[in-house]
Parts: sequence; C-alpha cells; structure tokens
Amino acid sequence: MTTYRPDALIASDIDAYLARHQDKSLLRFLTCGSVDDGKSTLIGRLLYDSRTIFDDQLAALEADSKRLGTQGQNIDFALLVDGLAAEREQGITIDVAYRFFATDKRKFIVADTPGHEQYTRNMVTGASTADLAVILIDARKGVLTQTRRHGFLVNLLGIRHVALAINKMDLIGWDRAAYDAIVAEFGAFAASIGMAPPTAFPISGLGGDNIASRSDNTPWFAGPTLLEHLETVEVDAERDAAGVFAMPVQWVNRPNLDFRGFAGRIARGVVRPGDAVRIVPSGKTSRVARIVTSDGDLSEAQAGQSVTLTLADEVDCSRGDVIATAEAAVEAADQFETTIVWMDEAPLLPGRAYWLKTGATTVSASVRPPEHAIDVNSLAHLSVKTLGLNDIGVAHVHADRAIPFAPYEDSRDLGGFILIDKLTNATVAAGMIARPLRRAQNVHWQNIEITREAHAAQKGQAPKLLWFTGLSGSGKSTIANLVEKKLHALGKHSFLLDGDNIRHGLNRDLGFSDADRIENIRRVGEVAKLMTDAGLIVLTAFISPFRAEREMVRALMPEGEFLEIFIDTPLSVAEGRDVKGLYAKARAGEIANFTGISSPYEPPESPDVRIDTSRISAEDAAELIVDRVVGMWSPVI
Ligand code: ADX
Repeated sequence: MTTYRPDALIASDIDAYLARHQDKSLLRFLTCGSVDDGKSTLIGRLLYDSRTIFDDQLAALEADSKRLGTQGQNIDFALLVDGLAAEREQGITIDVAYRFFATDKRKFIVADTPGHEQYTRNMVTGASTADLAVILIDARKGVLTQTRRHGFLVNLLGIRHVALAINKMDLIGWDRAAYDAIVAEFGAFAASIGMAPPTAFPISGLGGDNIASRSDNTPWFAGPTLLEHLETVEVDAERDAAGVFAMPVQWVNRPNLDFRGFAGRIARGVVRPGDAVRIVPSGKTSRVARIVTSDGDLSEAQAGQSVTLTLADEVDCSRGDVIATAEAAVEAADQFETTIVWMDEAPLLPGRAYWLKTGATTVSASVRPPEHAIDVNSLAHLSVKTLGLNDIGVAHVHADRAIPFAPYEDSRDLGGFILIDKLTNATVAAGMIARPLRRAQNVHWQNIEITREAHAAQKGQAPKLLWFTGLSGSGKSTIANLVEKKLHALGKHSFLLDGDNIRHGLNRDLGFSDADRIENIRRVGEVAKLMTDAGLIVLTAFISPFRAEREMVRALMPEGEFLEIFIDTPLSVAEGRDVKGLYAKARAGEIANFTGISSPYEPPESPDVRIDTSRISAEDAAELIVDRVVGMWSPVI
C-alpha cells in the first residue's frame, strides 16, 4: 500500500511553500487526543479541505480507501496522516509530526502528538511553540482522564487558547444535551486549573461537519467552524505585553569600530527607537538608537521578530544578556522554583550538575530533590525522591550564576528552559520558571582579606587537590596515605579526606543510592575546595563512581589545581582481596547498590595519573604521584 506523507512531501518544498504564503500570519497549533478520538481524521480533513494534498495523492487515497472498504464513500483521512506502517500496525501515533497547510487567511503549522501518557515528552516538545491546542473528545465517551491530562499539560505549557473539538457527534445522533454536558464538564475542569475558557465545536471528522464548513446537522450551534476559528483567533499575547519589551542577545555584531549591534529575537513586547532600556543582569541603562534589519531600519519591532538593536551609549552587553524596558526590567536570579517535565530514560539525579539553557544563556545548574511530583491524571501531589521519564514535578533549581529571566507565565522565551546532560549532550528535561527564590538574593559573598594566595604563600606551597578514584578495595586509601606521608616528610602542608571516615561524620546521613553518592561528592568537593583556599594540598580517597561529579569538582577548582588519579584495579582483583569482606556480602545480596556489582563505576577517560596496581606497588605508585605533583609545583607562588 502507498504511504502518504504530506509533511515529508511538502517539507522538501517548504521554503517555496512558506514564501508563497509569506504575507499571511502564522498560527502554530497542537492537537491532543488519541487514535480513537479521530485525531488523524481531523488533521487529514484540514489538510484536504485546504487542498494541501496534491491531486495525484488524492486519487490514490480515494482508491485505497475504496479497496480497504473504509467508510463507504468517504475517504479515510486517517490513512493519509497515519502514514507510518509501524504506527498503523500498533494502532498508535508515536512521534511529533509537523504538518503545514494554508488557507486564504492564514498559514498553519500543526504539531500532531500522541495522546498516551507515556508520550508526555512528545507532547511537551510539540507544545513548546504552539499558540493554540485542539483537544479532541469522543462524544460517546465524554471527558476522560486523558482529556484532563491534556488540559493540564496544555495549561502548564502556557498555551492560552484551547479549542475543544467534540468529535463523532454523528454517532450520538447530534445530541445537543450530551454536547452541552461535555462542554460544561470540561469548562468546570478548565476553571479549576486556571485555564481560560475553551471554545467548543460539535464536529464529525468523518463527514467534515463544522470543520471547514458549517453543518446542517447542528442547527442549534451558532459558532463558527473550527477552521474559521483557527483562521481568526487572536494569539499575539506576547506582542501585546504592553510596556515590557525584552530581547535576549544572541550575538553581538561588531563588523567595525563604528557599529555595534545586538542581535536577537524579541521575546516580549514592542520596541521603538528612543525607548529607554536596561541591560540585565548588569543593570546598565541606555536608549535604543536604531532597529536594524537586512531590509533597512524599522520604526518599530515586536515579539517574534529577529532584529539587531544599536544603543545610544557604549554599554557592556554580551551574548546571554537581556535588553529590556528600563522601568519594568527583567530580573536576574540564580535560584528558582520550577516545574520540570523529565524526558530522559535515566531519572533525574538531584544534585548533579546539568547544563541549563534558557534564552541565549547556558549555565551549569543542579536540581534539588523534588518538592513533589504531579499525577497528571488526578492532579494529586505525590511525594517523590526523583523524577523518571514523563514525570512532572516541582523542584528548586540552583544555577551557578545569576541569569536574566521572567516567570514562564509571562514569557515562554524567558521563563522556559531545558536541561542537558553534560556528558551525553542529550536534552533530559524541559522546565518552567515559576518564581525566583529570594533566598538567593539575600546571601552575599563576604570579602575575606587574607586571600587564598596569602594562605598559600605563608605555607610556601601551591595548593592542589589530588582526587583518588577507583573501586572499593582498589588501594585508594593505601596509596593516598603513602603520598601524604611523603609530602609531610617534604615539609608540605596537607590533609587527607577519606571516604570511610567522612561517612562517619559530615556525611553520616548519606547512603549509597546514586543521589546520595552525588551529594557525598558534592560536599567533599566543597570541603576540599575550602581546604585548598586555606593553602593546603588536599588528598581525597572516595570511590566517586560518576564522571559527572568528578568533573563538577574539577570545575570548582582553579585551572590546573585538580589532579584526577585513577587507581585502576580490576574488579576481579579488588574482589579477590576483599579486605573488608564487603564484596562477599554484596554477592550474597546483603549489601545493595555495591559499586562494581550492583551499582556502576565509570572509569575516568583521561585521568591526570593512572596507576595500574597490577604492575606497580603501592610504594612505587606513591613515589610516582609525588614526583608528578612536586614536579608540577612552581617553586615560588
Ligand atoms: S562513594 O561512591 O560515595 O564515593 P565512598 O568512597 O564515600 O563511596 O564510600 C565507599 C566505602 O563505603 C567503600 O570503600 C566501602 O568500605 C563502604 N561501602 C559500604 N557500602 C557500600 C556500597 N554499597 N558501595 C560501595 N561502597 C560501600
């Protein structure tokens, strides 16, 4: 059978297509519903009625529909949209597909996302740029758990316009009372979650009733058709955000000394030459001199437009800063309350450093253990320790520096963010900033007069952090002890932090779950950093099984002060020695999450020093490390 992919077909010609419709306004919308609700049929119908389908495809489609004996004389529009064979076999739609179509009045991009719970991730992806959502309801079934979930997500993602398409009205005999009851029930739900009242339509995807043309079957329905609504609905909320212009700076354009422009896409409001603006976070103020585009200067630009601004004064402003209206300036903060949608197979690791990307800024940030997760079906708050794939939760996020932002409900561009795994570069979550945590603004750095340089100079040494990593029983503590003895004998000031010891005191509240190990290493990293600030050579002996946390500690330290020392003992050897008898217990199932057995160890990819303990004695290893460290010291600081 032929597979119909109107999106793919048009995508190859997309530039020409968009150019042809360039003067029309664009509406991005999302459809939510499941296979059974007739979503594909509805989209197929919109494409068909706007003649986006090419004629030869149409002929083939008619032939296929007849051959398959579907729906009598009607064309099976679902055949058109559910083009992927796998989808059809499973009877579900599995990815986000974007389709383009246009009418005389407007052009449209529709994100078609699956409705199943496990595909929340896809729905979030599809919704991130949508202005409107069409929520489909099967008139025979009414408002389902799934409908509420869709409503909740659409509202959470800041989509302000909801069209309720009550489908299969033909199958309930165009029963007005049933329709009214569904509209009322969904309306009450919408009000309970703070969603603007939706606009409802009694439709039949099969017959096309009230989709592109009014239906004779609903004399009681006075409203426009769904397509007329899509063509005329006003969705420029961001542009209309009066008086609160904001634009994240994507790059600074400085072709010569006479011109310095700040390029970006306007996130909110309207800007005109002469407007007073403030740069966030620096707080410097100036006025807009010109709005430059490739087609000449503009007298006004608004949300969604990409422009280059020049300012009247020579103020510092770089990539990631936000240029905003002076009086209602965008804030900057480094700690936020957020709602996070987790989109990765691997769960959130509270405390781990991820890249946080928002606007034009990327910073390092970690997520605290969630305050709660939200059951998208019942909207109940659940007490959880982490978030797994498709989970939604409220959690505090700590960034390593202040970033400009606006609450997500005011600006999707300035309040939305994604989290990226630093090692795999995968996008693991999407998030929405609810509010800054004031705490961050009330804690300041206290200047200390005796600097770390002064501390180090008094000790006549350069501080270092010798970070030993390896399996339990690999020999970390033994070798670190020998190294410290040698350093001590050389008159160096040092201190050894050892896993087993620290876990009796500072970290006695921590166990061996991934999250606890991350917190263990975070605290040890901070303590080690303070000790190097005091001028010491610090040695640490922790399994520290995860690359991400070892890299986090490296990033805490000044360049060159962190030495990663990999005590490379194979599991079989460490287990063979089993000095503490723990491997035996772990094998017997008496210890959970034991590194190397039931919990992973990620070996360093390029350690500063690697000790192969099968080839070299502990004494020689210590000698080698001291040589390396002493050799690296500059004689005078
Ligand atoms: S880390 O993974 O968080 O870096 P750490 O070095 O502090 O671990 O502690 C490891 C020591 O705790 C081991 O040497 C061992 O003596 C003991 N231990 C107890 N339970 C475990 C476990 N499940 N996995 C690894 N080590 C354990």
